[in-house]
Amino acid sequence: MTTENQPEKTPLMEQYEQDTGNLAVWKGEITNGFQKWKKKRKKENIKAQKKEELQYLEKEKRKLREGFDEGKKAGKDYDHLIVVENLHKTYLLGTTAVAALRGVDLTIDKGEFVSIMGPSGSGKTTLLNLIGGLDTPTRGKIFLEGRNISMLSDNALADIRRDRIGFVFQFYNLLPQMTALENVMVPLHFSGKLSKRGKKKRAMDLLQLVGLEERAHHTPSELSGGEQQRVAIARAFANDPAICVLDEPTGDLDSKTGIHILNLLRDLNARGATFVAVSHDAAVSEFASRTLHMRDGKLTHEGKVGGLKETDVMALKRKKEAEINKEKCKSKIFQFLFKNQDRDSIKITEIQQNIPEAILKNLPEHFNDILEELVQENNINAKLVKDELILV
Ligand SMILES: Nc1ncnc2c1ncn2[C@@H]1O[C@H](COP(=O)(O)OP(=O)(O)OP(=O)(O)O)[C@@H](O)[C@H]1O
Ligand SMILES: [Mg+2]
Repeated sequence: MTTENQPEKTPLMEQYEQDTGNLAVWKGEITNGFQKWKKKRKKENIKAQKKEELQYLEKEKRKLREGFDEGKKAGKDYDHLIVVENLHKTYLLGTTAVAALRGVDLTIDKGEFVSIMGPSGSGKTTLLNLIGGLDTPTRGKIFLEGRNISMLSDNALADIRRDRIGFVFQFYNLLPQMTALENVMVPLHFSGKLSKRGKKKRAMDLLQLVGLEERAHHTPSELSGGEQQRVAIARAFANDPAICVLDEPTGDLDSKTGIHILNLLRDLNARGATFVAVSHDAAVSEFASRTLHMRDGKLTHEGKVGGLKETDVMALKRKKEAEINKEKCKSKIFQFLFKNQDRDSIKITEIQQNIPEAILKNLPEHFNDILEELVQENNINAKLVKDELILV
């Protein structure tokens, strides 16, 4: 047979002939048998490809779930609030790769105020965003309260950001049309745990915490930079986060206002809040309990910039002790009142005599205020009149 008009045999045709024993080409024409076989084969290929994709997705999902479960299991019992292990982050810009983090290890414990310092571009914001669950690492692990958050889906990360992390940024990021109170209420709306009244009360308490209850109904444009940052701090605490992350919290403020903000952070830290702040500002390091230094995507060493003055360390320690003393003092007062509940009145000095001198000497507030707070908190029917507690 001549091959003049014969279509050239493709490898697929050869395979058809081998598999079926039929001819792919007969009298210069492609056979129907081959056409049908080819169509069927194409369909099968698409099906197989889809199956493979599904299997891959299932595998990825399983990996995410396992990561989450592993985290959940570990989350019940953990040593450090945050553990960062061999963290890498590489950004792809077209064909260039920017290695922003190149193997960071770090632990942060509850109650710490950690500052991270370093030159521009050293990777501070990148590290903070990963700790805060705003981004995921290229390599390495981040554990928050024992839960591995480095492999979570966007949705799971969003939940963690809402429930466990407070954010404070250089430019406050408040909603301009809303009042200070409404801004603080925003995260509460998303968590949906409180009633409308409950949210308002919580937001007001938070504004009080940062000393701004009188500015509650002002919008951001009616507030100074420092006041706006205080609102942002109150908002960060709305959902009672495990940790508050701050990116250049004093970056947009003059140095005096910056110090006010740092004093507020120190106060909140003394009451148990955990902070990690990244900054260029050496003052942040002065107020932090620990300072880490970054360069070229790595943590290089630990230590204060200028060194904390001895008096500052002592003041901080005394403040923490005073808070503990307050609780001890309340408990002693309560015991005393319980024993003397049948009396009509008790002199304040008599109550004080039943409390160890060491506790009384270092209290964060006036004794009478602590007494009143205790009476209120426990719904005790009593009133402070001059130097006496009148029991009703
Ligand atoms: N989204 C991004 N895409 C590409 N590259 C990025 C991105 N974000 C940061 N980088 C690069 O990663 C490196 C680290 O940036 P990062 O913002 O973490 O530094 P930084 O220490 O916070 O700097 P600064 O003090 O100026 O805020 C820089 O080289 C930066 O250009
Ligand atoms: Mg930055």
